[in-house]
Amino acid sequence: MRVSKLIPIDKFIDKALYDNKKGYYFTKNPFGKNGDFVTSPLISPLFSEMIAIWIVSFWDDLGCPKKFNIIELGPGNGEQCKIMIKTFKKFPNFYKYLNIFLYEKSSVLEKVQRNKIKEQNVTWIKNFNKINAGPALFFGNEFFDAIPIKQFKKIKKNVYEKYLNFDNRSSPKEIFRKVSKKTISKLKKLNLLKKNGIIEYPAQGLRELEIITRKIKSLNGGLLLIDYGYLKQLNISTLQSVKLHKKNKIFNNIGKADITSLVNFNLLKDYFKKRNLTVNKIVSQSFFLKKMGILERAEILSKKMSFKEKSDLYFRLERLLSHNYMGNLFKVIFTYKKKKKFLLGFI
Ligand SMILES: C[S@@+](CC[C@H](N)C(=O)[O-])C[C@H]1O[C@@H](n2cnc3c(N)ncnc32)[C@H](O)[C@@H]1O
Repeated sequence: MRVSKLIPIDKFIDKALYDNKKGYYFTKNPFGKNGDFVTSPLISPLFSEMIAIWIVSFWDDLGCPKKFNIIELGPGNGEQCKIMIKTFKKFPNFYKYLNIFLYEKSSVLEKVQRNKIKEQNVTWIKNFNKINAGPALFFGNEFFDAIPIKQFKKIKKNVYEKYLNFDNRSSPKEIFRKVSKKTISKLKKLNLLKKNGIIEYPAQGLRELEIITRKIKSLNGGLLLIDYGYLKQLNISTLQSVKLHKKNKIFNNIGKADITSLVNFNLLKDYFKKRNLTVNKIVSQSFFLKKMGILERAEILSKKMSFKEKSDLYFRLERLLSHNYMGNLFKVIFTYKKKKKFLLGFI
């Protein structure tokens, strides 16, 4: 893919991933063994089952409202939604009040999802305008890490934004331009300028959250995000790219490889608090899934399994739960309107 002119890094990522003719997510289905990467719902269906049970419990805690919306942010290949619907159907009193919305940007992935999910109560959306009655529970696995970020460099009191100059080269030259006082004050307000080094700012992600938090405040509900990220600001570039399950250099295979960044979870927490939403303590994926009973569920299922099936089940759980794989690097954050705490999975 050709990228021309001098562009800020978020625009570059946006074009590489979401250009609607040549962008990565608009030209292929990258999930699974034959794709470029796998995500938790593809590793084990128990991941989606646990999230589904958690959502039913949240609905119950709200007093079982007779209209309830769930919105999956970035449903990927639709696997999580498919498994969740299967679980939801085991709770008919919940399921009859449920509307499911799939918020998907890519037309290619929307097609993949539509082939997998045929239920009448599922609607594909490009914005949240249709959701205007009943509480709204938003959730996303690896949604936020897939949204382009801006990068800055802080040297003493000066702040520069990273731009890329491709200038007919295949690999771009990084150029840093001094930013305006307005940008400095915006970054300061988000506590991003405490240390020198690279500052990552999810401008587009926060725009998405602005709309979501407004919906939650007007309709009641919440937002559950699971993603890989950190709690202590790193001040280094966390951009990474993968292709065929291997690391790829960011500027190689543009439009043919995935690009993500680590999520700054404390930034999200502060952001929600400033909007007067309640936020639970951020926990690791392993903590959350274990509290939701994933090991007990595995034990029940494994009783009817052959040795080979059992080993496969526990091998997959190990990937989701072990500190060396996804258990600790992946974190869970939940923010919601209610003042009364909903702590399932978090304590
Ligand atoms: C890394 S994938 C995660 C997929 C899935 N949640 C999973 O865990 O397998 C990111 C997903 O978010 C979608 N996406 C990214 N940015 C989006 C946006 N601004 N609006 C809607 N969907 C978006 C992508 O097209 C893709 O479906």
